[in-house]
Amino acid sequence: MNETLVLKGNIIFTKNTDKFEIYNNAFIVSIDGKVKGIYKELPKEYSNCKIRNYGNKLIIPSFVDLHLHASQFLQCGMGMTKQLLEWLNDYTFDLEKEFQNEEFAKEVYTKFADKLVDSGTLRACIFASSSTKGTEILFEILKKKGIGAYIGKVNMDRNAPNFIIESTEESIKGTEYLIKKYKNEKLVKPIITPRFAPTSTDELLEKLGELTKEYSLPVQSHLSENINEINWVKELFPDSKYYLDVYDKYYLFGHTKTAMAHGIHLSDEELNIIKGKNVILVHCPDSNINVRSGIMPLRKYLNMGIPIGLGSDIAGGHKIALNEAMVRAIQLSKLLSINNPEYKPLTIPEVFYLGTKGGGNFFGKTGSFEEGYLFDALVIEDDKLIADRYSLEDRLERFLYLGDDRNIIARYVEGKEIKQI
Ligand code: GUN
Ligand code: FE
Repeated sequence: MNETLVLKGNIIFTKNTDKFEIYNNAFIVSIDGKVKGIYKELPKEYSNCKIRNYGNKLIIPSFVDLHLHASQFLQCGMGMTKQLLEWLNDYTFDLEKEFQNEEFAKEVYTKFADKLVDSGTLRACIFASSSTKGTEILFEILKKKGIGAYIGKVNMDRNAPNFIIESTEESIKGTEYLIKKYKNEKLVKPIITPRFAPTSTDELLEKLGELTKEYSLPVQSHLSENINEINWVKELFPDSKYYLDVYDKYYLFGHTKTAMAHGIHLSDEELNIIKGKNVILVHCPDSNINVRSGIMPLRKYLNMGIPIGLGSDIAGGHKIALNEAMVRAIQLSKLLSINNPEYKPLTIPEVFYLGTKGGGNFFGKTGSFEEGYLFDALVIEDDKLIADRYSLEDRLERFLYLGDDRNIIARYVEGKEIKQI
């Protein structure tokens, strides 16, 4: 198709966690949805292309949220005095049940998708609910939006109220239906999603592992989030040495690419196992605080070379905007560093990397503007008084700390502009 797109502006991104790559007043060229290059002077071969000139605005990679629950969107900012297992029972399951109602699912998922895209998240790993029909509705809504997502029907066949669990058979049948319907989609694709070990029987995990293998699918779930949860997993699966073994035993832990939310309480032995697998841990800082699960020792994991992405964990986290998660990750790291001089707080390029290229790796080449990367981008407008006075790095930091959807004036996925209606 050979579609060439040329944008002009101040281009900032991260190749790695060390520093920002900064190009003042430059051109970025995307061909067929992929970055071709960044140029101070536009090469002659593109001189006939129409240029979208964003002047003094910032052009950055769009955000990648590696863990959130679309079905918990209405619940954001509520039940925040509870801890995880109590919160699930008192708030979450009741709400997730409602997605069996198609009208409700349509209304809420539309609001969810609008807010997600408004906030600049253009790739996401999403838990829907246990309702097959509700999950199908979410697929259709996100397909129309034109953003990239992995969507999972949530599998549960025990240890949750009857109104929300399914029989093992029903759960697998609905999952396979969605896999068959959406496996060849380009942007919105299925992902195997056992909610977490405690709500899964061995039989369910075994069958989900078989689907993972048969269709070569990615996997997402929760891992070692909360101490009571971990103790519960030990009781339910006495033969498993570690929590992760419950998934690993059934082909659900890094045999295909796997995103595990939280991973807060992990021994060095477990971390070394994770490091040798195709697993990315997802840090969800707001959720760590809100449901008081603990704080992921992110610096330690980064030093060990464990792949990490960021998640809003809506609605354990209360804000969907991923720049909020970046800021909270820094703030938590500062708290951890206060009584531990060895613990170096996170930097702005580090959290920006995690929320763009770090998580983006899960989707292939996205989250960066290096040559060959999918051109997924946001254009950011800030206050003129700020723009005139401060460096691009300062302006980006300020956007991460204070900015919101009102500052995002354009969004691109694979070189196509996403227009919010
Ligand atoms: N563990 C199992 N289910 C959930 C959930 O919905 N949210 C969070 N944060 N953790 C979970
Ligand atoms: Fe979660």
